[in-house]
Amino acid sequence: MSETTVMEKLVSLCKRRGFIFPGSEIYGGLNGTWDYGPMGVELLRNVKNAWWHDNVTTRQDVVGIDAAILMQRAVWQASGHESNFTDPLVDCKTCKCRFRQDQIQESQCPRKPSKHPGEHSECQLTEARKFNLMFKTFVGPVEENATQVYLRPETAQGIFVNFKNVCDSTRIKIPFGIAQQGKAFRNEITPKQFIFRSREFEQMEIEFFCHPSTSAQWYCKWRDERFDWYKGLGLAGANLRLREHDAQELSHYSSGTSDIEYKFPWGWGELEGIAHRGDYDLKQHMQHSGKDLSYFDDETKERFVPHVIEPSAGATRATLAFLCEAFVEEMVEGEMRTVLRLHPRLAPVKAAVFPLVKKDGMPEKSMTIYKELQKHMAVFYDEKGAVGRRYRRQDEAGTPFCITVDGQTNADNTVTVRQRDSMKQERIGADKLLGYLLSQLSSV
Ligand code: GAP
Repeated sequence: MSETTVMEKLVSLCKRRGFIFPGSEIYGGLNGTWDYGPMGVELLRNVKNAWWHDNVTTRQDVVGIDAAILMQRAVWQASGHESNFTDPLVDCKTCKCRFRQDQIQESQCPRKPSKHPGEHSECQLTEARKFNLMFKTFVGPVEENATQVYLRPETAQGIFVNFKNVCDSTRIKIPFGIAQQGKAFRNEITPKQFIFRSREFEQMEIEFFCHPSTSAQWYCKWRDERFDWYKGLGLAGANLRLREHDAQELSHYSSGTSDIEYKFPWGWGELEGIAHRGDYDLKQHMQHSGKDLSYFDDETKERFVPHVIEPSAGATRATLAFLCEAFVEEMVEGEMRTVLRLHPRLAPVKAAVFPLVKKDGMPEKSMTIYKELQKHMAVFYDEKGAVGRRYRRQDEAGTPFCITVDGQTNADNTVTVRQRDSMKQERIGADKLLGYLLSQLSSV
């Protein structure tokens, strides 16, 4: 299958099955925005919950925060975003389109769709100018310079400005991390590849504060742990790689950055960057805010500005990677089956319950099972249509287990459990079903 076909099929499945819709669709859409439907919101939430569980809840050395999206303009002046968070923008005087200069090879001229703007003789490209990606808005009723703020382009700065609050309000000691998930906004010149590069998206970031003498070790530890996290959720093998930045790619303050990259149908793309940021951010905020953000170690009696390791991931981008990896079409008994082989932790619905037919007490028994399972996991009930079609619908939604109540259930209180990937069916006692599903779901 060509890369375009795979993406077309995936985008179509996402729309058809309620994962992801174009933003403001009934008004013709708003470029670079996407809405998550009933399945998509569960999938995205499961990605974020898995990240939070593995990086915050089950660690003693990481705590979470949820900072405001609107922050003082001074934050972005201190961080360097106001002057440097730019992309090189070129205009075409002929087709009036705008392109990112460093992505011109991937952008098609709308007048000559098969050609890139630089290669098309009628295209007249201007010199590149710096375009700041932050969305501006105003706080309060007066739209003037003094009230101007930005929608945050990353969640990271909300963490740095709360470093002192967290130190003062908890008894956590360095080395420790602060984690945050949430919306980020970037006025991307060319949003593209479905939800890969959008103007509104979600991030999952950690700023890990440590003593300068240990920062190199922490950098390697986080890099490896974060890589393993994606592997553990199914992105293993040839589609996942770690790419260390070379000296030219590194920011002036960074002594190491690695990208975790996924091989999307169109090529390699960054899922997460792990950066050794030194003491750059805290020092910038100390300088601009006039507040002391240094750390005093009670045991060693040393005062220092901590170094920071930043694992910075995109929640929506990771969701796309999980969808791409999971999407499979296969021939089964002469028919094409589409299946999302999502990791069970990420699957929006864990089990679907069906009565084989709508009689002989099967719907009532199914409903009892459904209600019992619902106390423990996301379950779906479906009694419409042939059971084979119901299986296929759940395959497309990535549901790991389908449970069918049939004629035999009345006789021996057993149900069939069908596995999504192998399509194998086995009979299980209805009283053992919950235990069976919980153990299967947690064993992977
Ligand atoms: N605090 C560092 C930072 O924000 P970044 O590389 O600009 O670093 C981190 O962003 C992650 O956020 C990226 O690896 C990517 O997963 C995600 N991301 C960035 N821009 C995005 C966009 N326009 N659409 C979707 N995800 C994006």
